Amino acid sequence: MSPSAAPAVSLDPVLSSGTVPRHVAIIMDGNGRWAKQRMLPRLAGHKAGVDAVRRVTREARRLGIAALTLYAFSSENWRRPEQEVGDLMGLLRIFIRSDLQELVSENVRLRVIGDYRRFTPDLVAMIDDAVARTAANNGPILAIALNYGSHAELAAAARRAALRVGADGIDEAAIEAELDTHDLPPLDLLIRTSGEQRLSNFLLWQAAYAELLFVETLWPDFDAEALAAAVTAFGLRQRRYGGL
Ligand code: FPP
Repeated sequence: MSPSAAPAVSLDPVLSSGTVPRHVAIIMDGNGRWAKQRMLPRLAGHKAGVDAVRRVTREARRLGIAALTLYAFSSENWRRPEQEVGDLMGLLRIFIRSDLQELVSENVRLRVIGDYRRFTPDLVAMIDDAVARTAANNGPILAIALNYGSHAELAAAARRAALRVGADGIDEAAIEAELDTHDLPPLDLLIRTSGEQRLSNFLLWQAAYAELLFVETLWPDFDAEALAAAVTAFGLRQRRYGGL
């Protein structure tokens, strides 16, 4: 392509001058529909979803995103059939076994948000061990939301803040300091895949000033190019934080 025919904005945010968001969160939706379109069991969709997790976390590192938060299991997901809940837990175990070493060597800090201590004790121990093994890293953060719900997070934060500063002392900073995300950068970009346009109890406080991006792509089809395109779209938006 001759220089004059080059697009005005590079589709690769690393190559373009657009701002790269520090903290990106993703509601990974559409695994079931992806499987259904292929007449496969839902588990196949979730497996393909794990492959997408791997692709997207690698691309987030390449783009220089400081923190990536993924909604892997919501507090409402317990309502799914027992078999599917078990399958999702099984995939989490497989993911930790297969991918932890890469996270350790790539200097990624693994974090978990949500009440994951409600999982079975052996899975809790596995998660704690994985988090501990990346705790000394100082590179990008991969936060996985497990048994996470924003309302429960906020209620727990308010309880802890009340104990720490007393009811009258609770202000925005006191709540912020008690959120599961207290040591993550402010949320810049929240993406939901599969065409649904809801936040589904995910990062409601944190999303106050985030840019929201709803894309039609089903999560298992979300790839490096899709993340790069989302980051490019973010770089083109003007954030005013209530000002002019
Ligand atoms: C939504 O698709 C997806 C989930 C509820 C689970 C997301 C989990 C993964 C991608 C795999 C596990 C993650 C890790 C980090 C190991 P859906 O089933 O609601 O899809 P549908 O709306 O099309 O039925």
